[in-house]
Amino acid sequence: MNAPMSGTTAIAEQMDVMVEKLKRWAEAYYRDDEPMVPDAVYDAVFADLRKLEQAHPGLLRSDSPTQTVGARPLSKFNKHTHARPMLSLDNAFSVDDLMEFAGKVQAVSEETGLVSEAKLDGLALSLIYEGGYLVKAATRGDGAVGEDITANARMVQGIPNQLAVSNPPPLVEVRGEVFMSKAAFRAHNERAETTGERVFINPRNAAAGTMRQLDPTKVLERKLSFVAYSIGNIEDFRDTITTHWDALTLLERFGFPKNPNTRLIAPTQEMIEMVVNDMTDLRPDMIMEIDGIVFKANRLDVQDEMGFLSRTPRWAIAYKFEAEAKTTVVRDVEFQVGRTGPMTPVARLDPVEVGGVVVSNATLVNMDQIERLGVMIGDTVVVQRAGDVIPEIVSVSVPGENRKPIEMPSTCNECGSEVAREEGVAAYRCTGGLLCPAQQVRAIQHFAGRDYMNIDGIGDKIIEQLHDAEYLHYPSDLYRLTPAMIEGLPKQGKRSAEKAIAAVEKSKQTTLPKFLAALGIPEVGRSASLELVKTFGSLEAIMAASVEELCKAELMGPIMSRNAYQFFRNPQKAQEIQALRDLGVTWEDVVKPDASEQSLAGQTWVVTGTLHQMTRNEAEEKLEALGAKVSGSVSKKTDVLLAGEAAGNKLAKAGALGVKVVDEAAFLEVIGQ
Ligand code: IVH
Repeated sequence: MNAPMSGTTAIAEQMDVMVEKLKRWAEAYYRDDEPMVPDAVYDAVFADLRKLEQAHPGLLRSDSPTQTVGARPLSKFNKHTHARPMLSLDNAFSVDDLMEFAGKVQAVSEETGLVSEAKLDGLALSLIYEGGYLVKAATRGDGAVGEDITANARMVQGIPNQLAVSNPPPLVEVRGEVFMSKAAFRAHNERAETTGERVFINPRNAAAGTMRQLDPTKVLERKLSFVAYSIGNIEDFRDTITTHWDALTLLERFGFPKNPNTRLIAPTQEMIEMVVNDMTDLRPDMIMEIDGIVFKANRLDVQDEMGFLSRTPRWAIAYKFEAEAKTTVVRDVEFQVGRTGPMTPVARLDPVEVGGVVVSNATLVNMDQIERLGVMIGDTVVVQRAGDVIPEIVSVSVPGENRKPIEMPSTCNECGSEVAREEGVAAYRCTGGLLCPAQQVRAIQHFAGRDYMNIDGIGDKIIEQLHDAEYLHYPSDLYRLTPAMIEGLPKQGKRSAEKAIAAVEKSKQTTLPKFLAALGIPEVGRSASLELVKTFGSLEAIMAASVEELCKAELMGPIMSRNAYQFFRNPQKAQEIQALRDLGVTWEDVVKPDASEQSLAGQTWVVTGTLHQMTRNEAEEKLEALGAKVSGSVSKKTDVLLAGEAAGNKLAKAGALGVKVVDEAAFLEVIGQ
């Protein structure tokens, strides 16, 4: 029985739909790096929502994109005076220094442990929650006064908008570090190549640069994260916290992700050495950059008694890792060609050991970076290696005597085609397309990749070797390989050759979205390919569509549509597609999902964490095929959260909102696998 809706309820519902839609589009953009709709469509809905909000201010949601996304660009950041100064940390460079610190703690009380935490390399933030809601976020600034960057902080993963407890303290100040993971950093810089956005030198610089610019959507897009490391001030809860460990536990209950590898240890040489050794070993594999280990006296009464120096507490110290940066000489610069032609300058260096690894090549990212650094051949430069990130030149140390400017060649060194620069884009490109051997190799590697034709047994290296041996020029040549060709390669035997050919055979039976994405149409990735198939049903229909028609598929913007249109009209590409089909690549034509199989119709699902049986994208495709709506964020409207391993903030939020949570095993049952 439906009661007639009042006018305001209907408008409120309409606004809810608009808010959810805008959020989903923004998240797809940030998560898949592929817009779901053309910018103009986003802007139009956004403007309509704003009109409704202005006409009905009572219905304005605080989480509306008009409130959190740069509707009116902020003119500058307001100043924020910290209730208590945000301090710095004293440094230790050896276990001896740490033992001296431990001695001072012990002199105050022998009954306190030390807490050791990773020292994250990012930007310190102070977050103020009133009644459980985030009301203010500020940078450290000079320690006394920072910048109010609340709008940006709302876009950081790991900063809950609302504390995940039912009885929040009236006021709490949480302090911690905002950072960019190594993966997000790499992804950003790669993307920046084509979007013309700023390329950053390291994740710290990227986090700081992103938090202090004026467009909050950029924060979301670039995937910043947060870890809390202390409670600045708290009302009503003070009695329940007697140690730093208690504070960290409470922060976790509030919904803040944990600083990984935090330990409570006895202040002995043995324990301190163990922590230093363990963290030094773990450092390269950690998802974020860390530049040291912080040791803190655990008991708060001990902290109070030890007190502060002018800028640093006496009860904490930072053990700093040896810098993973050294200087060496740039002997030459070569240009490497990527899959769709971008030319990346790579410096050839006098070999130098950086953080335990000998480095003889380092990326210079692009020509803008070369200009910014002012680097030339012959210069002595600072090379930095951070974890598993590719070594980079970060500055010029001593300009060389006979230094030579680095110039982008006018033709590609691999194929001789012209090198061109698109307007407004940082990267220069080789225009050779699939005539360029370097692009050929990268295109075949992409085609065979796990998320595309999934030819396991033929990895990147083998593709390179087969290309060198002239067996592979185009993806279709993969289907012309014989075991003998592979057996002839170094380190390959009969067994591995047979396995590789079997994988090639198996890949012939594929799906149309995978095939389409494997073709490597510039900017048309997996999600867009799926949408094209949903809209057009068959490859023939997609190939025949005009630019305007292609735009009708969700996610397909005008540039992507033009890329696709041109791709299919390139005779070489059309011939390659035909060759692949003639060689036996096939897929089932797409049947619109049967209504009787829409068992999840009407449900809204969110997927988070790491899955093992399938990728997150695949899980989302499955859910959509069964009629579920898939959203990027947990809200009270979420019906089910599928939480894989290491699920973080979304899981905490689902817990707080009482949303049903299933793990991967339960999910597989739901979808009948
Ligand atoms: S405690 C009064 N813990 O390091 C002590 N700081 O060099 C306040 N940092 O400004 C800091 N990870 O931005 C603390 N686990 C951690 C940290 C950490 C990174 C930063 C913080 C601070 C800087 C001092």
